[in-house]
Amino acid sequence: MHHRIALIFIILLGSLSSCTWYEGRNNPYMDEEITFSENIAPIIHQNCTPCHRPGEAGPFKLISYHDVSKRSKMIREVVETKYMPPWPADKNYSHFLNEWGLSDDEIQLIQAWVLQGSKIGDENSIPSPPIYTEGSMLGDPDLILKMVEPYHIEGNNTDQFMVVKIPYELERDTFISAIEFVPDNRKLLHHVNGHVVQYDEGKKEDFSNGKNSVKYDRSISQHLLYMEMGILNDDGTYPYLTSSVVNYLPGSVNTRYPDGIGGISLKKKGFILLKDIHFGPTPIDTSDQSSINLFFAEKKPERPVLEILLGTLGATKVNPALIIPANEIKTFSTQWEVPYTISILTLNPHMHLLGKSMIAYAVTPEKDTLNLISIPKWNFRWQFFYTFPKMVKIPVGSVIYVSATFDNTLDNPENPFNPPRTIRERNGSMGTTDEMFQFIITYLPYKEGDEHISLQP
Ligand code: HEC
Repeated sequence: MHHRIALIFIILLGSLSSCTWYEGRNNPYMDEEITFSENIAPIIHQNCTPCHRPGEAGPFKLISYHDVSKRSKMIREVVETKYMPPWPADKNYSHFLNEWGLSDDEIQLIQAWVLQGSKIGDENSIPSPPIYTEGSMLGDPDLILKMVEPYHIEGNNTDQFMVVKIPYELERDTFISAIEFVPDNRKLLHHVNGHVVQYDEGKKEDFSNGKNSVKYDRSISQHLLYMEMGILNDDGTYPYLTSSVVNYLPGSVNTRYPDGIGGISLKKKGFILLKDIHFGPTPIDTSDQSSINLFFAEKKPERPVLEILLGTLGATKVNPALIIPANEIKTFSTQWEVPYTISILTLNPHMHLLGKSMIAYAVTPEKDTLNLISIPKWNFRWQFFYTFPKMVKIPVGSVIYVSATFDNTLDNPENPFNPPRTIRERNGSMGTTDEMFQFIITYLPYKEGDEHISLQP
């Protein structure tokens, strides 16, 4: 008898919990009518449309009522779980520009809207979505350079690396405020690191010789590679190669700094040299023809941005050596003593599929701790270049500590091997199933007042 009552009770509870009244009981917005036109469109346009529009990373567009209402249940789920919009860095630890994320209020509005049946409201008062430039996160580029020909990606289930050159010619030597990489094959393209090769007047006549793309092979010397690609000056000497000026990782948005900071001077003629473009494995033959956006600057860049790479292949060692035994969770660290006072602009933490968490902070000579970034739950898909709202001053003699934890157990759903295998750095091999622990810092030598300069473009 008791059993039966308990059973009925459980059934009753079960059906209550699946009904609307019960689900929305703590949601203050359930008492008002929530509509797309009035409440939801502004949230979507600001927080979702930048990525969910044609030509950007999101797999479908979220702009119109139709786009959003047909996926309303899934949208509710991804915002409640905070899977979307993606922002892996801990906002209680440090802040950056363009932090994606919804407030609790906004999440409740979306929840109430979906529970009430995703109503459109007054169709005529739906705000128009912001105007975006297709193919750019930064605005209208002054010049678009496309890879000369599509690169064929073999469907052989292995990682592929290549080097590509894209020739450019300007009317005159020009100041550039930003260079943006726009991936064509977003599914496979994993990362890119680009430089500019520039020629002094009269040093190179023919820009059409040499191959436009070459499979990257560690065993080929740089000299041979440059010969094969026709990059050397006509007299066989080396042209001028800038440090890394364009980077891409999934989810990353390039930064355009305020006038005078960053940017480069470009000579009239040259190549954009994309080194180690990395395509993930695919079972089907496909191709990629990515492009580059150039943004011109009014003024000469007075303060070129410096970059240091800590960890794998970088200026500082990983401790202990990056070997992650099968079935273990293991933490590694690296550290850099700042040689003079610097102003940090951006941070870019990088790991692959076994990444679990990363944290970085500076300790000053007075033993003050300055938080830099914490990523409590690493997600391989989102590797942003995190830009501080204002530059962060790190006094001379401070030590920057970075610590990264890797999960090589089966509890990590991204583990590429089952059963897990011991994974190591393999001399900086960059395959998706090898590991890396890198931390890139871009900075300037400190100048009085830097910490008050806003980096908001
Ligand atoms: C920084 C870019 C970015 C922003 C901002 C963004 N998305 Fe996404 N979204 C993506 C990408 C890329 C994917 C596909 C990869 C994935 O599912 O992990 C995705 C996937 C999704 C999915 C499918 C999830 C699944 O399991 O298949 C939904 C639903 C979604 N987004 C909704 C939203 C909503 C709603 C917002 C705003 C509140 C938003 N997204 C903001 C880039 C973004």
